[in-house]
Order: sequence, then C-alpha cells, then structure tokens
Amino acid sequence: MELPITLIGFMGSGKSTIGKQIAREKGINITDLDDYIQESSGESISNIFKQKGEKEFRDIESQCLREVLLIPDQVVALGGGTPCFLNNIEIIRTLSTSIYLQVSPEGLTRRLIRSHNPRPLIKGKSSEELMEFINLELKKREEFYLQADYVIQSDQIQVDELLRLIFI
Ligand code: S3P
Repeated sequence: MELPITLIGFMGSGKSTIGKQIAREKGINITDLDDYIQESSGESISNIFKQKGEKEFRDIESQCLREVLLIPDQVVALGGGTPCFLNNIEIIRTLSTSIYLQVSPEGLTRRLIRSHNPRPLIKGKSSEELMEFINLELKKREEFYLQADYVIQSDQIQVDELLRLIFI
C-alpha cells in the first residue's frame, strides 16, 4: 500500500487532467476533491460559495480532505485553494506524496480564459482582472504550494516523464 498522491496547483494548472493520466498509468483510482465535496454535500461548489460563503466552503473542504487522504493507492486532485487554508498543508504533507504542478501566471491566464469550468473566485472577471488576480494570488499561494514534496513545471511535462522524475 502506498500513500495517496496529491496534485497541488492553481486553478487551471492541469491537476485533474494530469491526475487522470497518472492514475491510468499506475492502474489506481483518482479522486477529485471538488467532486468529493459536491457528492458528500449534495451541492455544487458554486452553490456552497453563494449560499454559505467561502469560510464555510473551506471548513467543508478541510473535512473532506481528511476523509479522502485516509484511502491509500489513489491519486487525489486537490482544489486550487486546498493547501492554503487551515492546517491543510500539514495534513497533505503527512498523509500523502504531494506534487505541485507549477504553471506561469501567463500560462494560467491563457488556460483559465479558455476553461468552461464554473469557478466562483474568478467568475465575471475580464482578461486583465484575471491576470491581476492570478499574479496576486499565486504570490500568496506559492508559500504553501512550494511545500509539496515535488515541484514540477507543468507547462510542457509529459506524464511518463513526470512519473520517472517522481518514482525512479
Ligand atoms: C478554488 C479552486 C477550485 C475550487 C474552488 C476554489 C480556489 O478548484 O476548489 O472553486 O480557491 O482556487 P480547481 O483548482 O479544481 O478549479
């Protein structure tokens, strides 16, 4: 049995996509923490933010993180904010092998402009506002992201290369 592998990174950094590829390659399951939260609360992430506010969302997220990381042999794609609130980074560092998928602010802006995933924190932002938000927020969040066991430049990484870097 191996500790779960957690993927950390800003919204749009490819956590779910790369997570699915790692899971396929290793023949293990993937859990998306946002999906787990939605299934266990019976509400969409957008609704939780709208009806209960961010603080309550972070409490639910932290509780779900603790539950999910007890299951070995799986990949877990975390939410962009997960490592940055409460004592989640300590939990992640203790209960998983963590990988930070690092993408430049320009790369993130490009990806998020194209994304159709509804994300409450960036809803309704123009490209300029989005770029400004990413620059500011990434600076704050990297303090947490960079505590991951591995930091991978995710702009062009191939999954087989990533697995070699991490597991050999
Ligand atoms: C958030 C990222 C989202 C989701 C929520 C908050 C954040 O997950 O958890 O909207 O604070 O960065 P993704 O990174 O999967 O979009």
